[in-house]
Amino acid sequence: MIWTGNGIFILQTGQTGYAFRTAQGGVLQHLYYGRRLPRTEDYLLAPVTLNQPGNALLDGGSCREDLLQEAGTAGWGDLRQSLVEVRLPDGGRACDFHFSHFERPASAAPEGLPAAVGGETLKVVLKERSHDVYLELYYTVFEETDVIVRWCRLVNDSAETVWVERLMSTQLDLPADDYDLITFRGAWAREMDLVRQNLEGQLCWSSSAGVSSNRCNPFAMVCRRDAGEEHGDVWALNLLYSGNHLGTAERSAYSAIRLTQGIGGLCWQLLPGSFFDTPQAVMTYSPQGFGGISRQMHPFVRRHIVRGYWQDRERPVLVNSWEALYFKVSARRVTQLARSAKEIGAELLVLDDGWFKGRSSDDRALGDWTADRKKLPDGLASLAKDVKAQGVDFGLWVEPEMVSENSDLFRAHPDWILGHRDQAIGRNQYVLDLTRPEVCRYVTETMRSLLYEADIRYIKWDMNRILGDTFTPSLPAVRQGEAAHRYVLGLYSILRELTEAFPQVLFESCASGGNRFDLGMLCYMPQIWASDNTDASCRARIQWGYSYGYPQSVLGCHVSDAPNHQTLRRTPLESRFSVAAIGLLGYEMDPGVLSADRRQRIREQIETYKARRRLFQFGQMYRCPCPDGETLTVTVAEDGSEAAAVHFVALNAANPAQHPLRLRGLAPEKTYRLANRPAEVRMKDFGSLVNYMAPIRIRAGSLVESVADRVVKLPADQLELTASGAALCAGGFWPVQPFGGTGFNEGTRLMKDFDSRLYFLSEVEG
Ligand code: DGJ
Repeated sequence: MIWTGNGIFILQTGQTGYAFRTAQGGVLQHLYYGRRLPRTEDYLLAPVTLNQPGNALLDGGSCREDLLQEAGTAGWGDLRQSLVEVRLPDGGRACDFHFSHFERPASAAPEGLPAAVGGETLKVVLKERSHDVYLELYYTVFEETDVIVRWCRLVNDSAETVWVERLMSTQLDLPADDYDLITFRGAWAREMDLVRQNLEGQLCWSSSAGVSSNRCNPFAMVCRRDAGEEHGDVWALNLLYSGNHLGTAERSAYSAIRLTQGIGGLCWQLLPGSFFDTPQAVMTYSPQGFGGISRQMHPFVRRHIVRGYWQDRERPVLVNSWEALYFKVSARRVTQLARSAKEIGAELLVLDDGWFKGRSSDDRALGDWTADRKKLPDGLASLAKDVKAQGVDFGLWVEPEMVSENSDLFRAHPDWILGHRDQAIGRNQYVLDLTRPEVCRYVTETMRSLLYEADIRYIKWDMNRILGDTFTPSLPAVRQGEAAHRYVLGLYSILRELTEAFPQVLFESCASGGNRFDLGMLCYMPQIWASDNTDASCRARIQWGYSYGYPQSVLGCHVSDAPNHQTLRRTPLESRFSVAAIGLLGYEMDPGVLSADRRQRIREQIETYKARRRLFQFGQMYRCPCPDGETLTVTVAEDGSEAAAVHFVALNAANPAQHPLRLRGLAPEKTYRLANRPAEVRMKDFGSLVNYMAPIRIRAGSLVESVADRVVKLPADQLELTASGAALCAGGFWPVQPFGGTGFNEGTRLMKDFDSRLYFLSEVEG
């Protein structure tokens, strides 16, 4: 709900309130963002602003250095990072925007950029004191998910050119207090590492990689210092943008906090009569800690970011060829892989990299999107048919934004690359210059033909290098500061056309895993390959990081081989499954080369997942308390009738201290039956210890051991209990006692390193 009156603006969602007013002759003063307050006048307890000695005194007799504001500017006494910085025709940068009027448009979205769907919008227009330059602030309120989306438009109505040197999407000023900043940092194969630091001085979270990047995700949180997983005030920000981003957090000399977020590194020429739009920024507040933020962000992403045919549809279980075949693709091997995929119960076979003309390694062929006839003699359409004949759908990998030097496309258009010819190139490839409409048209048409050529139900859209040199000959020297943003606009125009033309194709975004994991891409593609790292131990941590701001319905998560190709670590097959099941399940391996026993195990995993697919993919996920080195998550169905909890333990310990597993999110009044999925206990796991019991001596690694391992079935621990949701959350349940060196039977839980248990809960009559 949006309330306006007497120069006061109050934006309310179900649980939160946000307020500002016009003050000091038209400056927008921020009043409040927090819990929803009962009465309008409650929002007017405006923070007092003092005069700061030596700083500029303004119209109303006070000073802006510490004033909480909606749109900070440079040059008028506010020394903090500003929302907007404009270079005016005389070269000066001092800007002063004053309230002009407000409107209530039925809807509004930034031009050429993705936008959240729905909500109620307020537009507030400010005018620069002495130039015909207008700043339009847009606020869209999403009542049931407690989210406010902000973005800005800068309009040049003057007769002269001005330069936008900074135009952020949002600014949030918070009153003086002790706060922490929480950001998610990393690199390839180790995305989303949570970093919590005291908010002192000036901090930032940003990417200058041209993509939203795995170095620092645009999602971030600020909390009061005493906040934790389920308690305390937390504010979160995110951006619907896939390029360079900049988030700033700073404490002023008078201890007020300012946060801003928007495009990073921009310099844009604004001609008379034109405007510039920022991407949308998402803001949410919860008094219930980080868990509260996740429970607002997840449904917001599911309902207002992801859209179209796949928004609410269950996603297929897939087998991806990358780690099974790498570049060694052939029609025979792909068809065989499709057969094994069907055999284990998967529904989609994705042919990853290596299928197109001349692509025998990663230094060639990008840009030539036709089937390699040596590998696929009958072409793509025929291969798709053969795959379909095995009983699974056909999906395909592409990397359309790139070109290899050794490719027909590059030979025909060497001038189509972004940056100079002599540049630092990543993964042996150039980035296509998507600032140019003719290049975008080529990419769109090539992808369109591919999708018409064969029955392709899924596309994995990859992007395997950062943007380095962003020089483009399409812009004059003075406007090169626009190139990185124009690249993103070009990309979005391609994605818009393709996803509208092929609404039922399931698109999965990927950038070497999570190098472009953001809300912008999710407006076009309903899921993203979360990380190239599929090691269960690393993945449990990576997915934990994503879960703060993103629901599991957008996370591609696969079971891969052991030893793992990124870490060479062996983790139990069951753990690889349990961790991948907290997301969109797939298999990144060739099930055909596994033993019949392993294949059967995988078949059961997929059956288990499919039987509760809605819960796994669309249930509400909670992070539960557990000691360091362990993760415990529970996913609860919307109506609370069922849940699935995954407990993962990185390193086993001898005779460890026991602790109960306390769940979250269960309906307190409901009664649940809890049982674990039977673990896999193998004789081999005991090594020479089997000789303590075995009637004959068994040597570790011997043939006898292999045979015994296959034949002898050892009992697995089985926990079954019935309890109320209240009890399972307050006191928790005690897992079966762990194996501690001796005395193994069905009453002991064998937890090896990197082991896990998957517990199912279903409602029963109380
Ligand atoms: C990077 C992706 O993240 C991988 O899954 C795979 O598709 C490779 N690219 C292929 O080159």
